[in-house]
Amino acid sequence: MSASAPQSADAAPAAGRAPAHVAIIMDGNGRWAHARGLSRSEGHREGLKATRRAVEFFANRGVRALTLFAFSSENWQRPQSEVDALFDLFVTAIEAELPELSEKGIRLRFIGERADFPQPLQQRMAEAEAATAENEVMTLVVALGYGGRWDILQAAQRWLRDSPGDAPDPERFEDYLSTAGLPPVDMLIRTGGEQRISNFLLWQSAYAELVFLDALWPDVTEQELSGTLETYLKRQRRFGRTPHQAEAGNA
Ligand code: IPE
Ligand code: IPE
Ligand code: MG
Repeated sequence: MSASAPQSADAAPAAGRAPAHVAIIMDGNGRWAHARGLSRSEGHREGLKATRRAVEFFANRGVRALTLFAFSSENWQRPQSEVDALFDLFVTAIEAELPELSEKGIRLRFIGERADFPQPLQQRMAEAEAATAENEVMTLVVALGYGGRWDILQAAQRWLRDSPGDAPDPERFEDYLSTAGLPPVDMLIRTGGEQRISNFLLWQSAYAELVFLDALWPDVTEQELSGTLETYLKRQRRFGRTPHQAEAGNA
């Protein structure tokens, strides 16, 4: 399904339905580690366990796409040692998780600027995408080297290359975003207590329901994930309409 903008109510899941696309800003690994006298890298390793829980949880709830923010375009500014440790962790994690993801029918897709990543990581990313390309249970999108402004700009550049002189229309423009073919984000979760988007899926989250959790990412439990779904299901998604119109539209 291609997303439309402005997002039409027709494109959205009906009221009371599981979100089609959940996105998570997995924040708080560093603070989790700091509180225990551990290194930030140890926090990221612990965060991977929460990532596993989240993938399993949302795949079992019928979510079609789960997009996880793992490394932002701004995270390049972190100390080189932390960046290197993260890249090592990504390589190890892809290798370790691939068999189970494949077995569960999960398709892996990476979005972001990967040209500057170490070669072994780029290679694992490409291999994992190819190995799971036919899987249909859920698409797990991992945002690595990703920034929302980068995404919109790279789409605009490719649009201009393909259709110079054509005014972009929102529907066709979305095919140039890195998330082409995925539904718009229905629910955007951020853990770690901060309430900001940090340059994540700017276009794709235009009408997402925002859910903020105080829990640091490694501490996020299945119960808390379940709570986000309950919160989401209680929200009335209006897409610019009146509450009455939205109610009638969802009936
Ligand atoms: C999020 O946790 C993971 C990445 C950005 C890679 P942080 O590393 O930002 O953790 P805090 O916010 O410092 O606690
Ligand atoms: C956002 O977290 C990026 C990821 C979770 C990968 P940050 O910790 O980098 O965000 P800011 O810097 O607090 O906004
Ligand atoms: Mg952070």
